[in-house]
Amino acid sequence: MTAHSAPMPAEIVVPLAARRTVLEVENLSLSFRNADGLLPIVTDVSFSIREGEAVALVGESGCGKSITASAIMGIAPENAVIGGRIVLNGQEISALGPKDRRKLCGRHMGFIFQEPMTALHPTLSIGRQMTDTLKHNLGLSQSAATQRAAELLDRVGIPRARDILRGYVHELSGGMRQRVMIALAISCGPSLIIADEPTTALDVTIQAQVLDLLEDMRREMDLAMLFITHDLEVVGDFCDRAVVMYAGDVVERGQSADITRHPSHPYARGLIDAVPAHDDGRTRLTPILGTVPPVGQWPEGCRFAPRCGRADEKCRTRPRLETLSQTDVRCWHPLEAGA
Ligand SMILES: Nc1ncnc2c1ncn2[C@@H]1O[C@H](COP(=O)(O)OP(=O)(O)OP(=O)(O)O)[C@@H](O)[C@H]1O
Ligand SMILES: [Mg+2]
Repeated sequence: MTAHSAPMPAEIVVPLAARRTVLEVENLSLSFRNADGLLPIVTDVSFSIREGEAVALVGESGCGKSITASAIMGIAPENAVIGGRIVLNGQEISALGPKDRRKLCGRHMGFIFQEPMTALHPTLSIGRQMTDTLKHNLGLSQSAATQRAAELLDRVGIPRARDILRGYVHELSGGMRQRVMIALAISCGPSLIIADEPTTALDVTIQAQVLDLLEDMRREMDLAMLFITHDLEVVGDFCDRAVVMYAGDVVERGQSADITRHPSHPYARGLIDAVPAHDDGRTRLTPILGTVPPVGQWPEGCRFAPRCGRADEKCRTRPRLETLSQTDVRCWHPLEAGA
C-alpha cells in the first residue's frame, strides 16, 4: 500500500450474540395419544438459534431429536399432542392453523434429511420438483423457476445443471442427491435450515464436501441452522452451540466448544468418551454402558441415573436445567469443568 492509498475498510462482522433470533423453541413437549392415554416422547425442550448460527441437537438414537425437529417443522404425526411455543422470525408458528403454518414454513424453512431418496420424489424429475417448489412458494413463472433451479444446482456444485434437471433422483450418487436436497432447501431463501443427520449415509470424503457446502451456504446466506447429529466431532467443528438430549430431555446446553471440551453432564462426557480416540497407533473408545430407556419406561427423577456412575439417592428426583459457569445442565452431580 502506498502512503496515499486509502486503507481497505475492515469487514464488519456482527458478533453472533448481537444477531437477530430466528428460531425460539420454548418448553416444547410432545406426546403421542394412544389407547392408554398420552405417551411422552419429548419434555421441556428449549433453545434458540440466531442468524448465521449453527446449533447442534445431539444424543443417542431414540433420544427425541427427529421428533423435536418434526414438531418445529410442523410435520409431527397426527396423534402427536404438542405443548410449548415455537417462534420463527418473531411469529409464533405453533399458534398458526395448518394451512398458514405450511405456507410460512415452506417459505422460511428448508429441510435436509439423512436419506434424500425418501425425501425426494422418485418419479418426478428433479427439475419438476424444484420448479414446483419455486412457483408455489415464490410465485415464479415456469421459465424463471427453471432458470433459478439451474442456478441453484450450479451453486451447490452440480455440473451440467440443465441435464440434471431433466433427470431423476435414482440416477444420482448419494453425494449428488444430498446436493440436490441442499439446493431445494435453500431455493426459497429461507432463514432457517433444519438438517437431520445430513451426512450420516455418505462416505467420509463426501461427508466433508457436503459439510463444507452447508458451511458456505450458512455464511453466504446468514442462515440459522439446526443440525441433528450423532457425531461429536461434527458438533465441535461445525456448530456454534449444542443442545444435548437424553430420553426426551435437554440435559446440557451451551457453546459447543465448552460442551465438547469440558462437558458438565455425565451423559455428555460419556458421548465424548465414546468417540474413538487414536493414540499410540491404537483406537480406544469407552462406550456408555446400557441403552436409552424406551419411551414409556423412563425412570422417575433423572432419566440418565441408571447408566450414571455418579447417581445416588438424590437422583430419584428430577433435576432442573440449571445454569452453571459455562453451560446449562440438568444434573444433581455435574462434573467440574475440565474433569
Ligand atoms: N410415530 C411414532 N409413534 C410412536 N413413537 C415414535 C414415533 N416416532 C418416533 N417415536 C419414538 O420417539 C422416540 C424418539 O424418536 P426420534 O426419531 O425422535 O429419535 P432420534 O433421537 O431422532 O433417534 P435417531 O438418532 O435414531 O434418529 C423413539 O423412542 C421412537 O421410537
Ligand atoms: Mg432421528
